[in-house]
Amino acid sequence: MTDHQYPQPIPIGDWNRLLEGRVAVVTGGGTGIGGAISRLFAQHGAIVEIIDIDATVAGEAVADIEAAGGKARAHIADCRDWEQLQNAAEAIFADHAYVQVLVNNVGDFRPLERFRKSSPESWKAMYDINFFSTVASTKCFLESMIAGGGGSIVNVHSVEGMRGYPGDPIYGAMKAASAKFSTDLALSMGRNGIRVNGIGPDLTQTPQVDYISTSVGYEHLWEAWAPVGRLGWPEDQARVALFLASDLSAYVTGHNIPVDGGTKAGAGWFFSPTEERFTNRPKGL
Ligand SMILES: NC(=O)c1ccc[n+]([C@@H]2O[C@H](COP(=O)([O-])OP(=O)(O)OC[C@H]3O[C@@H](n4cnc5c(N)ncnc54)[C@H](O)[C@@H]3O)[C@@H](O)[C@H]2O)c1
Repeated sequence: MTDHQYPQPIPIGDWNRLLEGRVAVVTGGGTGIGGAISRLFAQHGAIVEIIDIDATVAGEAVADIEAAGGKARAHIADCRDWEQLQNAAEAIFADHAYVQVLVNNVGDFRPLERFRKSSPESWKAMYDINFFSTVASTKCFLESMIAGGGGSIVNVHSVEGMRGYPGDPIYGAMKAASAKFSTDLALSMGRNGIRVNGIGPDLTQTPQVDYISTSVGYEHLWEAWAPVGRLGWPEDQARVALFLASDLSAYVTGHNIPVDGGTKAGAGWFFSPTEERFTNRPKGL
């Protein structure tokens, strides 16, 4: 066997600049989890191309990144719309030959429709925002990643795609579809130098899911709610996205990581502060 048949791990270089010089597209990169990802990636040297429907939050993210000495641009587009996505991609390719990182972060559980009240229109809305947006933006950037010699795709779906979700089975199914898409695309793209992974958030404070104002008076229950005993922050998600986008995870592909403070692992077990033990019975909370 010759050496070239056993390539060594990619050198990491500066651990504080894990994405130096890489072009990173972040959908929904203005605020919430996407906003934290844009900001952290820029801090690590990425040239961040934000695609967001909201010009205000996208502009704020660009301003924050530039104020910190980073590079970013905003493209205003609705990721549910193929033509708008293609226009955003065209604007990105006007400046960069290749994209090395793609984070498909757009998604929403709203409007929440219980299945018995749902309709073909509400099913399609869940499909468009949670699955079409991911597939379509992947299609826009994949060829450029391959042509550029490789890259990393990170799909932000939900822990609800990885466990049973009673709220809306269509939302859960679309998130599961995004997780499965990540795994399956990873297998077919590995030899093209493309890695694909997903993250499944839970309990993370964002404009979409405002846990703080909806748990007033119940703050003491966080200890029982999440095994790590606290609310999640967008930065908690962004750090895992950075790991998956960077060469730190060069040998990781096709996986979906719950970034949930342990809720998926808990699987029905809750810590009871009063009894100082875990319980699977609500009485102990
Ligand atoms: N926050 C959580 O606890 C949580 C839990 C599970 C899953 N998620 C998932 O994480 C991802 C991010 O969630 P978040 O809570 O940060 O959301 P958020 O609504 O707070 O932020 C979403 C961002 O995407 C942009 N956006 C929304 N619709 C868009 C569209 N059609 N086209 C382009 N941009 C659009 C918004 O302007 C915003 O910048 C979503 O896929 C969501 O389903 C979040």
